[in-house]
Amino acid sequence: MSEIEFPKKALFMCNGSKCGKHKDLKKYFKKVIKEQGLKNEVEIFKMECSDRCKCAPILYDQFANQWHEKVNLSQAEKIINKMKS
Ligand code: FES
Repeated sequence: MSEIEFPKKALFMCNGSKCGKHKDLKKYFKKVIKEQGLKNEVEIFKMECSDRCKCAPILYDQFANQWHEKVNLSQAEKIINKMKS
């Protein structure tokens, strides 16, 4: 039986019609993960709309077990910095 590797830390980003418009966030996370050598530690997953569109864009930080709403680039930086520590 083969084993599946899972990342230590995962960010679940909503890719629904409202949240998915915020492409800058996904680009930011991908860029930071690559630049800071976090590829083996942090992985981004897309998730479908969870009916919280009023709070778009939303994401779930699995490592901290925390939901974030109306995420902007400043919050994104704080989220990734917490994931690094
Ligand atoms: S589009 Fe993200 S919660 Fe609906």
